Amino acid sequence: MLVLGIETSCDDTAAAVIRDEREILANVVASQLTHKEYGGVVPELASREHLKHMLPVMQSALDRAGVLPEALDGIAATAGPGLLGSLLVGLSTAAAYAFGLGKPFVGVHHIEGHIMANWLVEDMQFPCIVLVISGGHTQLVRMPRLGRFEELGATRDDASGEAFDKIGKMLGIAYPAGPMVEKLALRGDRNAVPFARARLKDGEFDFSFSGLKTAARLVLERDGFSPLTHVPPLDAGMAPGERTLAELEALPQRAFDILASAQEAIVDMLAERLVAAVRATEARHAYLAGGVAANSRLRQKLEGVLTPLGAALHFPPPKLCTDNAAMIACAGSFRLRHGFVTGPDTRGFARGPLESWA
Ligand code: KG4
Ligand code: ZN
Repeated sequence: MLVLGIETSCDDTAAAVIRDEREILANVVASQLTHKEYGGVVPELASREHLKHMLPVMQSALDRAGVLPEALDGIAATAGPGLLGSLLVGLSTAAAYAFGLGKPFVGVHHIEGHIMANWLVEDMQFPCIVLVISGGHTQLVRMPRLGRFEELGATRDDASGEAFDKIGKMLGIAYPAGPMVEKLALRGDRNAVPFARARLKDGEFDFSFSGLKTAARLVLERDGFSPLTHVPPLDAGMAPGERTLAELEALPQRAFDILASAQEAIVDMLAERLVAAVRATEARHAYLAGGVAANSRLRQKLEGVLTPLGAALHFPPPKLCTDNAAMIACAGSFRLRHGFVTGPDTRGFARGPLESWA
């Protein structure tokens, strides 16, 4: 079964063609650089950029896959959650394309896509626990079987990726800051600052990262790292207050120590809840999904705590952890195969829970 997947929920315009839920024939992502000088994604600009890139990206995916549109068995696109204006570009294009070709179409939940990125690597094993950790979401999901999603808990405030992004931003690291925080943290002492690990009394599987964000800001201010106020030249492609790579690498050792300690606190909070969920459900398999799953300190720590419990840790390669369309094509393939077709009037949604199909 050949499926074209399309993803435009945030600032990446992506299209992919996959065969039989696993074989990636093409996986094209056009990342928008327009937002760099604003230090975050500007929704209106994102929609316009998607409009510019959508058709060329789709064409490029089909060309690279060597697949003619007539050969497709179906088309899938992210319906939500995400920026509505951005979603509508990919969703409407995909639905119209499917309608024109007379092919089945299905709208896919973005998080279902992140979870199913694991299937692109190997058959997932059930029952399992999935830790979803992206820039917009942090949640624990139990999957008793393929197509069934039971939410055990979620963040009460910031997402874990947002915590990386916001703490990184305090030191002038460009958005999305996660990968650079990971890199700079390698030079720091993760035990230098004893950041508190938030624990919620009434939610064993819930998360909270806003306290850490405030604590990091206070430590940084106390140690003299006040926010930069310089405005870079317009053509620098940088937001006000951002540091260049050379400037970041020249920061005092204390900055690396604070980053390493903050990363460790995030990793510990994620690890603690995942272990609690694995214990409570006696799951033998744990999966990671979403951009933060690319963090190697997190993977290392999780392997260390899950192995003694007899649970195996699985995660997609970094390229499939962050937003891409192969994961949407994969989730869409399963839905199409099981008869879940949505009409050309499929609605986009800014937020909404995962929905099971089995
Ligand atoms: O899943 P994703 O690509 O987009 C969303 O759906 O949000 O996740 C992006 C998030 C950003 O917050 C980014 O900083 C974070 O994933 N991220 C990382 C790493 N790579 C990406 N966080 C920590 N360490 C990384 N290596
Ligand atoms: Zn995502």
